[in-house]
Amino acid sequence: MRFKNKVVWVTGAGSGYGAALARAFAAEGARVVLSGRRRERLEQVADGLGGLNRVLPLDVSVSVEVEEAVEEVLREEGRVDVLINNAGIFPSKATVEATAIADFDRAMATNVRGPFLLMRALIPRMKAAGTGRIVNVSAPLKHFPTASAYCASKCALDSLTKAAALELRGTDVLINAVEPPMMDTEMHAGGKKPEECIGPVLELAALAAGGLTGRVVKIE
Ligand SMILES: NC(=O)c1ccc[n+]([C@@H]2O[C@H](COP(=O)([O-])OP(=O)(O)OC[C@H]3O[C@@H](n4cnc5c(N)ncnc54)[C@H](OP(=O)(O)O)[C@@H]3O)[C@@H](O)[C@H]2O)c1
Repeated sequence: MRFKNKVVWVTGAGSGYGAALARAFAAEGARVVLSGRRRERLEQVADGLGGLNRVLPLDVSVSVEVEEAVEEVLREEGRVDVLINNAGIFPSKATVEATAIADFDRAMATNVRGPFLLMRALIPRMKAAGTGRIVNVSAPLKHFPTASAYCASKCALDSLTKAAALELRGTDVLINAVEPPMMDTEMHAGGKKPEECIGPVLELAALAAGGLTGRVVKIE
């Protein structure tokens, strides 16, 4: 029960990897906050969790929604011990010249702006609490033809992770990213089951003070 009474906020928790992570944290005693845009998907996952949890629909790319959600979580739960920035999208496959500008913008908004907004809002709270763990879900796909928007967004997420970790050096707010392998989810057909890929995320979320920070950890 590594997360007994810890408040763990998982974005993109209504499907795939996020749902598997929400289940794993709940099984280890966490109070899980589940976010995503589709309330019914979040409720389906939350129903199966048992224990205490909170369904909080939001679009991670919309600053006012993130701000309101952060206020609600802090008001109701008092703190956030662990943030898992998992929500993400993979826009249609296309070369750079064929990529719709709107698809590029959506990828950056969801995969980079979303984690940035949540980190921006929660880091001051974690600093004030004297502790916090953030795990950003990146991807091994960083330089792949026909996936430039997705690749660029995940490279940016790695940079955001490393820069923030450096800013927080000397504190007990530890920020890392993970690169899960191909997993069979709504985003991608085929690959590992998401449940097989959660161990390192839990380990990063459970790090002791002085542990790893600013790293992008590959999940085999
Ligand atoms: N599957 C793979 O092979 C693979 C490999 C490496 C990394 N990843 C990463 O793993 C993470 C999870 O992906 P997945 O494979 O589990 O795919 P998924 O099942 O499609 O999950 C993505 C989740 O993000 C949520 N989401 C999307 N846009 C959002 C927004 N604007 N605001 C809030 N929530 C949003 C979706 O819910 P709503 O639509 O309800 O909002 C969905 O639950 C992503 O960051 C992805 O890049 C996946």
